[in-house]
Amino acid sequence: MSLSVNDLSFTYNSGLPTEAKALQNISFSAEKGEILSIVGHTGSGKSTLAMHLNGLLIPQSGEVVIDGIKTDSDPKNLRKIRQSVGLVFQYPEQQIFAETVSDEISFGPFNWGLRGDALEKRVLDAMELIGLDASFASANPFQLSGGEKRRVAIASVLASEPSYLVLDEPTAGLDLSGVCELTCLLKSMCEKEICVIHITHDLELALNISDRILIISEGTLTANGTPSEISDMLSEINVKGLILPDILSLSYELKKTYGTEAITSDPHMLAEQIKAVKITCR
Ligand SMILES: Nc1ncnc2c1ncn2[C@@H]1O[C@H](COP(=O)(O)OP(=O)(O)O)[C@@H](O)[C@H]1O
Ligand SMILES: [Mg+2]
Repeated sequence: MSLSVNDLSFTYNSGLPTEAKALQNISFSAEKGEILSIVGHTGSGKSTLAMHLNGLLIPQSGEVVIDGIKTDSDPKNLRKIRQSVGLVFQYPEQQIFAETVSDEISFGPFNWGLRGDALEKRVLDAMELIGLDASFASANPFQLSGGEKRRVAIASVLASEPSYLVLDEPTAGLDLSGVCELTCLLKSMCEKEICVIHITHDLELALNISDRILIISEGTLTANGTPSEISDMLSEINVKGLILPDILSLSYELKKTYGTEAITSDPHMLAEQIKAVKITCR
């Protein structure tokens, strides 16, 4: 059982002067239990791709298949797909609509048939998971801070217990401790055999937390590999809008100048490489 995208293309405003080819011949698959990051510059097509994964957009050509079911306009298929693929929007305001946090978070599971104590427990569990105190339940989500709104948006998707969790730029607007908490949450989701698809323009974060990374540039998939393969590739070629983190540039220079083995963003491994170079140069 997996999520697979086959030869997907999508153009906005086809034939008009405002035509934008957002996605061109994208193919990849994602498995439960992995964190897959999709990294690209602004306007590279990330949000358009995210909206295809739970059927908010239907492919103009190619296909998206979730656990054997294709996203198409059949409402029965879409219902099943939206139950298994949870999408957290880029901006929480795109998603939040209810007057209280509790109503917001219970909307999904209520829709899938949960009622009474089970529904209340599901809401409180989702709030706890995302680090929202139970006292927030009666708060108006529109009056919360940006970081709190984002947590409500994530909790409302987690409450439906999706098999695939797609997050579009989830760290935007979070401070460093918020980013660390979110990273821990994504890792814990993975341990529960959920597939996490993390969409971001933050290459360094993607390199640190992912099992696999896709690079998307101007609507085209330019790479698909492990963080170490992607680091190697980005050391050699430039991808629009993506800047190699300083730590990787240093590792690359060590490899180029002194022939150290692997390019790494792990500070401990890098320290070992520098130590080895110092010994060799003595
Ligand atoms: N609703 C829309 N109507 C027309 N063009 C759009 C629309 N949404 C996005 N685009 C265009 O599609 C391309 C990809 O956008 P998007 O998927 O939002 O990229 P990203 O999320 O990587 O910033 C861009 O050229 C953008 O201007
Ligand atoms: Mg976007």
